[in-house]
Amino acid sequence: MKAARAWAPVNVALVKYWGKQRLDENLPATGSLSLTLTELGTSTEVVFDPALDGDSLVLDGRPAPDAARQRVSAVLELVRQASGMGWFARVESRNTVPTASGLASSASAFAALVLAAWQASGARRDLSRLAELARRGSGSAPRSLLGGFVELQPPGSAGDGGWLRQLAPAEHWPLRLVVAVLAAGSKRPGSTEGMERSRLTSPYYQDWLATHPADMSRARQAVARRDLQQLGEVMESSCLKMHALTISSRPPFLYWRPATVAVLHQVWEWRRGGLPVFFTMDAGPHVKVLCNAGDARRVAEGLSQVPGVERVLVERPGAGARVVS
Ligand code: DP6
Repeated sequence: MKAARAWAPVNVALVKYWGKQRLDENLPATGSLSLTLTELGTSTEVVFDPALDGDSLVLDGRPAPDAARQRVSAVLELVRQASGMGWFARVESRNTVPTASGLASSASAFAALVLAAWQASGARRDLSRLAELARRGSGSAPRSLLGGFVELQPPGSAGDGGWLRQLAPAEHWPLRLVVAVLAAGSKRPGSTEGMERSRLTSPYYQDWLATHPADMSRARQAVARRDLQQLGEVMESSCLKMHALTISSRPPFLYWRPATVAVLHQVWEWRRGGLPVFFTMDAGPHVKVLCNAGDARRVAEGLSQVPGVERVLVERPGAGARVVS
């Protein structure tokens, strides 16, 4: 048997990826820029065993649904092809938050999976290989391999193949991301289906693609200069454009709940009062608020007063995925 365990943190896109250029290879249509977090994440053990006749997956202590197992097995198959490992695997994975909370992410899940599987296979560590494998599981997953502020570009678009890179380590900028957790509701549709629907039916999809590179360069510049106002503005704009694609799709879909909107208004009200706070949201109702470290406590207290907010978490920039045993 050959075994390894890896931990991967959740990352949150400050400039979003939404839409694929190739569905079969899960190739994003745009780049993205993210912040890797500290506490939220996934720990995964992969055991390759010659006695197995198929891959198995236990998620948060229970046998995983078939669809999840198949998605993991498809990525393990690619790991086997790339590494020469010939055995099936037993995979046991745990999120630091319950999978059903809507805060567990496919990004940390697939980053932890490929890192553990690659390590267990005994093949030589190679970041671009790992990134490619993680991307096949989830387009946002390569970003969790690195810490701090991370840029991901689709292969071929970034010249020398360096399409995953750290723009700055976590220590570069001690920001806080305050997460307003709303009542759990499973995200419908999931990102893969939602993105395809937006690509095929939203009249604004081409504008999304056309305006995306400018968002990326403004965000890159803001990170380099530690300019929260500039980063926050581009982050909110990228997020709102992404959600505009969902409501302009046919049939439309919306990940927000009433409390989501209440949080957005609270953030804008704070800003009008001079507090530098900015929001982003992914394919779910929760809102993540970016602020300076010194303002995090006030923001967390304020968000916990908003009706419909169940819990508030304060996250920091953190390191990327690592092998733990
Ligand atoms: C809104 O990476 O979950 O979080 O590649 O289809 O698995 P798939 O999608 P996924 O989508 C991420 C969408 C997003 C924005 C982002 O993280 O860039």
